[in-house]
Amino acid sequence: MAVNFFDITRQNSELKDKLSIAISNVINSGRYILGQVVSDLEKEFAKYCGTKHAVGVASGTDAIHLALRAAGIKTGDEIITSPFTFVATIEAIVYCGATPVFADIEPKTFNIDVSKIEGKLSNKTKAILPVHLYGLAAEMDKIMAIAKKHNLKVIEDCAQAAGAEFQGKKVGSFGLGAFSFFPTKNLGCFGDGGMITTDSEEIVKELLALRNHGCHQTYHHEEIGFNSRLDALQAAVLKVKLPLLENYLFSRRENAKQYVEALKEIKEISLPEEPQGTKHTYNQFTIRIEDRDALHKYLQDRNIPSMVYYPISLHLQEAYQFMGYKPGDMPESEAAQNQVLSLPIFPELEQKEIAEICAAIKKFYNK
Ligand SMILES: Cc1ncc(COP(=O)(O)O)c(C=O)c1O
Repeated sequence: MAVNFFDITRQNSELKDKLSIAISNVINSGRYILGQVVSDLEKEFAKYCGTKHAVGVASGTDAIHLALRAAGIKTGDEIITSPFTFVATIEAIVYCGATPVFADIEPKTFNIDVSKIEGKLSNKTKAILPVHLYGLAAEMDKIMAIAKKHNLKVIEDCAQAAGAEFQGKKVGSFGLGAFSFFPTKNLGCFGDGGMITTDSEEIVKELLALRNHGCHQTYHHEEIGFNSRLDALQAAVLKVKLPLLENYLFSRRENAKQYVEALKEIKEISLPEEPQGTKHTYNQFTIRIEDRDALHKYLQDRNIPSMVYYPISLHLQEAYQFMGYKPGDMPESEAAQNQVLSLPIFPELEQKEIAEICAAIKKFYNK
């Protein structure tokens, strides 16, 4: 099969002229780091997310890291999060000198199981860091209620979920929102990029300093900061694509519908859920099957792309053994790591390509 798991070149070729003009304008402006195009994008992205402000940074990882710092997270603090996510979620916590404390996932949505959060609280807990995995919002009403009750900060990992909604509100508008613009994301640029959304002017002030070497005023370094600025070329690309994000999400959702329709009769497959009150953005279309490796290999042998996000839960990763977790500690996450399989879902995927992928899966199950 000729299709890739993800192919951004299709989207870019549709936008070739607009992107070329936007990039040329940046080249001719002579201003390549931050600047007007970044500020314009920040305003447009905040408006899209329904927040007062947004601050551009160099990546999604930095967005989580700087959001945690701006929220006051320090050495010794504990942050409750999911063990079933990309490693960047916990790297950002560790960069602050804080400790990730895992609450297992809910098996149908793959997001943090909110009923397990309060059992993980200690007098060191300072924040909850839900991840809107695969583009589906975590249960933000319950998470915000727990946070309020225990006076905790909430930082949302929205890397995979730009545009996702929970009870009519966009993700990133509940707590501090951390977004990634890595090319495979719902809204992707031509390299690394990220954004933090917030209603708080105080947080914005702190983020502006943190992303720029800790200065609130040029060459006055009131705190130790970082070099984490969004560059103008990435912002120019994102400004072209942001007005089209809703169309891209529509196409992702249509693709998901086609998969569901084609695969719903295969009883061995659990299809992704979209709980009432959520709008799934299908950054990934992830099915669940007991004998995952056999189907994965069958598809691989026929050049049909599929991916495993993620094969090892974070509490079992080698680099994080110092935290003292062992196999069996997060049973739902460990079951998911052995059973998930993501199928291509990018917006420009053609109906006949999805049909071909589904036909191969059906053949595997003799349907
Ligand atoms: C859930 C999650 N968090 C954080 C990140 C980090 O984003 P970035 O690659 O832009 O640093 C990613 C990116 O893959 C992600 O999927």
